[in-house]
Amino acid sequence: VSKPVYSRDTGGPIAFRFRSDNVAPVSAEILHALANANHGTAAPYGNDEWTALLQRRFSELFEREVDVFPVATGTAANALSVASIARPWGGIYCHELAHIHKTEGGATEAFTGGAKLVALPGRDCKLDPSALTEAVLRAERGARYAPQPDAVSITQASEHGTVYTLEEIAAIGKCARDAAIQVHMDGARFANSLVTLGCPPAEATWRRGVDILSFGATKNGGMAADAIVVFNRTLAEPLSYWLRRAGQTWSKMRFAAAQLIAYIEDDLYLRLASKANARAKRLGQGLAALPGVRLVAPVQANLVLAEMPEPAIELLVAAGVRFARYPGSVIRLVTHFDCTESEVDEFIGLARRSIASAAGDSEDEQ
Ligand SMILES: Cc1ncc(COP(=O)(O)O)c(C=O)c1O
Repeated sequence: VSKPVYSRDTGGPIAFRFRSDNVAPVSAEILHALANANHGTAAPYGNDEWTALLQRRFSELFEREVDVFPVATGTAANALSVASIARPWGGIYCHELAHIHKTEGGATEAFTGGAKLVALPGRDCKLDPSALTEAVLRAERGARYAPQPDAVSITQASEHGTVYTLEEIAAIGKCARDAAIQVHMDGARFANSLVTLGCPPAEATWRRGVDILSFGATKNGGMAADAIVVFNRTLAEPLSYWLRRAGQTWSKMRFAAAQLIAYIEDDLYLRLASKANARAKRLGQGLAALPGVRLVAPVQANLVLAEMPEPAIELLVAAGVRFARYPGSVIRLVTHFDCTESEVDEFIGLARRSIASAAGDSEDEQ
């Protein structure tokens, strides 16, 4: 039987490299940790020694006792975190472009039993605390026909790759406390945001009012494991039931736990995210210097949103490059820990040539 061959370039020259951080491989350290966990037997459903160690390691990392629950996906982390807070008649405030609102197929609504997402505006894809305050004030508490405020969810780093400052997180936290609602943070790219903030994880979460965190790992070197980190420990019990109902109580939990332990050991998560962020910075700077290109948002994590002449985008697509496209001739490029500088430069070169030849084409037409 011949072994399968996995080539770094099976997707074409740079076809999928900036499509998403989900295209990235697994970090060597995490693969190694999986191999190390792969001996003998271990109790199932999280009653094993790796999962116990995971609780201790995350409690050390966050400088307080936390409850940690591995899950398979970021969507599960978000939907089940919010389900542990919100009542079926509850209202969950989020940015109008939030992943839970736009891109998770209604998972949060489904797992809360029908709670309503209330989408709010905010610059640079970040929820504006004053919009939140106003919405909470407008909520008709006690009215049976209106969603009852239960939670606010913010995405760190945001869907546009911007990062909430500590003051901004604190402002959301204060507003939530005043309104007696709880704060969920979608941290699918939490490591990338932490690198930018340059502070310990506790400072960017519970010390600023975050009650529960979707702690991403898969996009940043994990194989298939994210975690829910619970700071407000009253949420841990309902969450444990939700996890089971959602099929997220892994039978072979040790392998999820082993990934997450390795992910934070010796700050691996930050080292991997720093690389991704540095590549995004380089990509953003290179693209911004091209004629007709404008960055839609500051590059503060591992995402670059660039507005580009439409014909040039078409040429990139025709060349086989894949990326998310947004209205208004905007493309989204995502870097990850395994992106090299030369891949970034290759993309910038291709974009430069596409813009030049698109401009040449339109001049021919005049
Ligand atoms: C901000 C954000 N949150 C959550 C998710 C969901 O992660 P998953 O695709 O693993 O369900 C994503 C995935 O792209 C994301 O970008």
